[in-house]
Amino acid sequence: MKVLVVGNGGREHALAWKLLQSQRIKQVIFIPGNGGTATTEGCQNFPIRVDDFEGIARFALVNGISLVVVGPELPLAAGITDYLQQENLMVFGPTQEGAQIESSKNWAKKLMQSAGIPTASFATFTEVEPAKAYVQEQGAPIVVKADGLAAGKGVTVAATVEEAQLAVESLFEKGFGTVIIEEYLTGQEVSVLALTDGLSIRTLLPAQDHKPIGEGDTGENTGGMGAYAPAPIVNQALMRRIEQDILQPVVEALRERDIDYRGVLYAGLMITPAGDPIVLEFNCRFGDPETQAILPLLETPLEDLLFACTKQQLSQLPPITWKPGAAACVVAASEGYPGAYQKGKIITGIEQAQAKTATVFCAGTRLVQQQLVTDGGRVLGVTATGDTLEEAIAQAYAAMDCIQFEGMYYRRDIGYRAMGN
Ligand code: AMP
Ligand code: GLY
Repeated sequence: MKVLVVGNGGREHALAWKLLQSQRIKQVIFIPGNGGTATTEGCQNFPIRVDDFEGIARFALVNGISLVVVGPELPLAAGITDYLQQENLMVFGPTQEGAQIESSKNWAKKLMQSAGIPTASFATFTEVEPAKAYVQEQGAPIVVKADGLAAGKGVTVAATVEEAQLAVESLFEKGFGTVIIEEYLTGQEVSVLALTDGLSIRTLLPAQDHKPIGEGDTGENTGGMGAYAPAPIVNQALMRRIEQDILQPVVEALRERDIDYRGVLYAGLMITPAGDPIVLEFNCRFGDPETQAILPLLETPLEDLLFACTKQQLSQLPPITWKPGAAACVVAASEGYPGAYQKGKIITGIEQAQAKTATVFCAGTRLVQQQLVTDGGRVLGVTATGDTLEEAIAQAYAAMDCIQFEGMYYRRDIGYRAMGN
């Protein structure tokens, strides 16, 4: 079988790596992919724009693609699944309506409210002055969110009323029509991803991302600088609560709205100091870098899960099985990220890193005359597994030591919350 993966990040590279472990998957074709995916055995890049749905459909039909897996949120929010399904293609990823759970925070909040899902209290505004007055009345800390896809830049956790009011002004100036102001929550964040066929769910191992650029979770937020799985804060009892009180009710609420949701339902959760899970956000896709840490532990063939979701047969599958132990992924970024950064820096040492029993998933990379060079903010992720998280982390850093490019930056404290320091 041939699988088409839409996207160009480490998440997509990890999906392909996992799929290719199965005898049944002969080839993974990326649209558009990156420098690393171009040189991975069994993989091929094809240069079609991600928003060219017609081109993608034609390509998939002509090339006998068995399944299309959509990585990022943008094409999902733009309706890639709706388009490809009309062409009778099998697609893993929700329709445009379903993707609103990520593309519109206001929509997601209302859905959570009506389904009784625990989430931060909030108010929605379409004008600056009432929003600022509300901030004044509530006081700080307080959280200001844009109601739309903002590539991780739409949320301000404001320590003061002034900062929150500036964030409100800035979002309206940038053209966001709706702004959400939300209660500030404390606790530990975790990502719980569920696969769903629109009827039932199967959760993946809980993972913890590291969003800020700096060690100790300081500085600006990024797409994610590293992850590990399983996150010990989510024990079995808490996982059952997350499934029963959050994920399954959301799937039911989507179905009540006649939304056919087949893909990943990703809950970004705050586990409060009292141990209660509260939803910060939902995403309509696999997390990145979480997926790079989760998939190396997956024993069940990934394609079985993806097909079961797209064919609405998830409940017929046996329970997902996992390798024991833990996995850690450390992301290497270009100097300056998440701000401005240079591209085109030569990357060396990937083979040596892989020889250290780690796997390198490429993201912002490009091939120039057969040489891999940097081409984005998050350049690559190094994932290692181990009997313990400590071992996985040590292996990932040992492998990362082999990799070099000018201005390479990575956090040295991935997993610190689980390691108790
Ligand atoms: P979101 O895109 O909604 O997940 O927000 C991005 C980040 O902002 C989250 O990962 C949290 O670190 C932080 N955040 C979002 N909402 C809240 C909240 N209500 N209280 C505290 N921090 C939040
Ligand atoms: N790692 C955060 C995300 O995928 O949204």
